[in-house]
Amino acid sequence: MSKIKNICCIGAGYVGGPTMAVIAAKCPDIKVTIVDLNAARIAAWNDENLDNLPVYEPGLDKIVAQARGRNLFFSTEVEKAIDEAEMIFISVNTPTKTYGVGKGMAADLKYIELCARQIASVAKTDKIVVEKSTLPVRTAEAIRSILDNTGNGVKFQILSNPEFLAEGTAVEDLLNPDRVLIGGETTEGGEKAMQALVEVYANWIPAERILTTNVWSSELSKLTANAFLAQRVSSINAMSELCEKTGADVNEVAKAIGMDSRIGPKFLKASVGFGGSCFQKDILNLVYIAKSYGLNEVADYWEQVIIMNDHQKRRFAANIVKTLYNTVSGKKIAFLGWAFKKDTNDTRESAAIYVADDLLNEQANVAVYDPKVEAGHMYADLDYLETRSAAENAKGLTVFNDPYEALQGAHAIAVLTEWDEFKGYDWQRIYDNMNKPAFVFDGRNLLDADKLREIGFFFNAIGK
Ligand code: UDX
Ligand code: ADP
Repeated sequence: MSKIKNICCIGAGYVGGPTMAVIAAKCPDIKVTIVDLNAARIAAWNDENLDNLPVYEPGLDKIVAQARGRNLFFSTEVEKAIDEAEMIFISVNTPTKTYGVGKGMAADLKYIELCARQIASVAKTDKIVVEKSTLPVRTAEAIRSILDNTGNGVKFQILSNPEFLAEGTAVEDLLNPDRVLIGGETTEGGEKAMQALVEVYANWIPAERILTTNVWSSELSKLTANAFLAQRVSSINAMSELCEKTGADVNEVAKAIGMDSRIGPKFLKASVGFGGSCFQKDILNLVYIAKSYGLNEVADYWEQVIIMNDHQKRRFAANIVKTLYNTVSGKKIAFLGWAFKKDTNDTRESAAIYVADDLLNEQANVAVYDPKVEAGHMYADLDYLETRSAAENAKGLTVFNDPYEALQGAHAIAVLTEWDEFKGYDWQRIYDNMNKPAFVFDGRNLLDADKLREIGFFFNAIGK
């Protein structure tokens, strides 16, 4: 396989966009074209004003500015880009199925299958197809079957190259990854295809951090990494509830155990619960795969991570209701944050959605401020749950562009995202303008408890 000169990426989302922008920035000799069916999204990627990029990530605007128009292109012409490329990344979404067999657990592969069929029908020359989206183990086999049986007789190599970037730190993670994982077939063609992709990454990543494995190991490693990370969060969250009962402080416990080099300090922050597009989806996927092989103990073990996470979100909302004298009906409860973590505008599976849902069931008036999330996304998140009508959600939830307005007259504040700016607010002014007694429920262990108590707040944090 000669050097790659032309890459196409199908899917201009949170994974495809930043990943390809970094590849283009670091490999000026490779033309990178990102295509998407969603014309509005492509237009936003092409917007002159870099504040309008569809994905917010620190540093992404600079990377896009560096490469866009030089060797990075965003387009809706999917077929043309496939035709021109030697290497095609598939970065389309793989949500959990909402219908049929595996509903609520298995990944919905319809977008992947559509991509495979489109590649097969368009390709006139040999192609390397790279799975970038997180996929269930053995998806590569399905892609191979479609490509080989519906194609025009050209040769396809299929690689798995899972993405480990975390949102909010995507650019940093892509520039300086712990490792890059590439899975391929252990045939001559497979080895060559892997080498071609290794050479792309070798433009900026040291050789010892680029791992090659067989396809199935690569696919399963991605699910395993996310399951382990999520499990750490659920483990510390489980301890947070015990801390609240016993008088231990979960931050102190996390620090004490994190200093054990075998445990390590990362991913031990107790919270209102993990969110994001990956953790829950990937664990559900793992559970589904284990069950489909009859491995019920394995499935139950991992499912408990999700059960714990759901419990954490629910008990946070329940604690608000209980503390506010068992009723929040007609009370204004202000949310600081809606995104699933700081430094992203992504809200998928954010704990805020479920906490809001519970409080709306209790007839609270929920007022939200988030520095990056658009109001339309918040309503769409709630409507998607189908707990109540869109009209009822619009009535129960109000979105503010100014945090002080959101907090004005509130009975309680719930911190749902750990945005840095919340720490610097004028908390005395906020207190003066709230209903008394004024409560803060810190779901992120973000704010200074002593300072807020001194002002007069009743302060409540996870795990304390
Ligand atoms: C995750 C993986 O980290 C990444 O490697 C993979 O590619 C995609 O899934 P992401 O979901 O973007 O990335 O963010 P991450 O930083 O992992 O956080 C996930 C959730 O866990 C967030 O809601 C975060 O707030 C929560 N979390 C994380 C905690 O509650 N406590 C922690 O200590 C760490
Ligand atoms: P992720 O977090 O995995 O990147 P996103 O939902 O942010 O997920 O992005 C996936 C993108 O893939 C969406 O913009 C969607 O429009 C696009 N997409 C899905 N199927 C296709 C397809 N067959 N052809 C082109 N783009 C697609």
